[in-house]
Amino acid sequence: MELDREQERILAGERGPVLERMLRLLVRLGEIYGADRFVPIASAQVSGVSYKSIGDPGLELLEDLAAQGARVRVPTTLNPAGIDLEAWRELGIPEEFARKQMRIIEAFKQMGVQPTATCVPYLVGHRPGFGEHLAWAESSAVVFANSVLGARTNRESGLSALAAAVCGVTPDYGYHREENRKATVVVRVEAPLRDAADFGALGYYVGQRCPNGVPYFEGLGGASEDQLKALGAGMAASGAVALFHAERVTPESGKQETAGLERIEFGAGELKKIREELTSDCEPDLAVIGCPHASLAEIEEIARRLEGKRLRKPLWVCTARAIKREAERRGLVQAIERAGGRVIADTCAVVAPLEALGFGCTAVNSAKAARYLPGLCKQRVVYMRTEEIIDLLTGV
Ligand code: F3S
Repeated sequence: MELDREQERILAGERGPVLERMLRLLVRLGEIYGADRFVPIASAQVSGVSYKSIGDPGLELLEDLAAQGARVRVPTTLNPAGIDLEAWRELGIPEEFARKQMRIIEAFKQMGVQPTATCVPYLVGHRPGFGEHLAWAESSAVVFANSVLGARTNRESGLSALAAAVCGVTPDYGYHREENRKATVVVRVEAPLRDAADFGALGYYVGQRCPNGVPYFEGLGGASEDQLKALGAGMAASGAVALFHAERVTPESGKQETAGLERIEFGAGELKKIREELTSDCEPDLAVIGCPHASLAEIEEIARRLEGKRLRKPLWVCTARAIKREAERRGLVQAIERAGGRVIADTCAVVAPLEALGFGCTAVNSAKAARYLPGLCKQRVVYMRTEEIIDLLTGV
């Protein structure tokens, strides 16, 4: 790879062992993927934050890096942690787990990382500009940044995102390059999509059908950002999709050539099939909304649907701390709590130790949660729209 003078000095060890290690990792990645240079990044987003995911080896590595002086050079945010950093006791999280989780957050803070603990950094003041290069790790945020915002990032691992944050650059390959951002398959959407759960199901279907493709959607005119957030998360969960275009909706859709591409259709039959595939035969003892983390508009919708009702089963609404604060300011958190629900920040059902809290069957409106809860949290899952979840939990 072509290196500048400063990068050569770093590799020669002149800027200390941590920078050298981090840059070597990025050079190796670049060599594997055929990059011939680095590009400067505007921001990084690091995954692998929950103690449940990285355990003691991850905690030790992060503390070691922080102690050796690793410091990020660009604005860097964090994926959700394994606990609500303020209300973990109320959720019944074991003390030992919480203590180690706090040490992980401290290590990141020491490195200069902002402890946002969310998978929607673009909703809490870290919204990339069109064409900016990034090194983001959270798959649902990667697909949103690439597709909806027109920024440029590969699906980084937690470590490669951190290395890029510390070095301020990332290897120039994959979705950083124009030639890899072209649509590879056309998806004609015929099914009526009523809410984010339906968009998630569409994404899940497309991720299964073309896991490494760049889909171009026809028929999504008028889709909201929240619906596109669910769509991308679904595709990134069942496949490795990191970029899509939607006709007259996303910023790079206008320059796509779609003639001659493979075409697939998504009709009412496919929607029904995916909903069934994501649903087990069980009675939910918990419902979780907010995967990816809920936006203010989604919290507002839940509060409105709960007005004058009482929940008969626990409801978790997972979101970013900054969004929760704003929702509190508007009285939305209080409205959800009055009905018996909880608004949980900094974490989510998938990365929290849900299996240790006594739940076995969870209702979700997210294809990503439906994909991961069985394996990572020993949950059976019922896939529902937000409206259906509220009706189920309030006994309508
Ligand atoms: Fe976010 Fe957790 Fe879902 S990190 S995308 S809420 S699995």
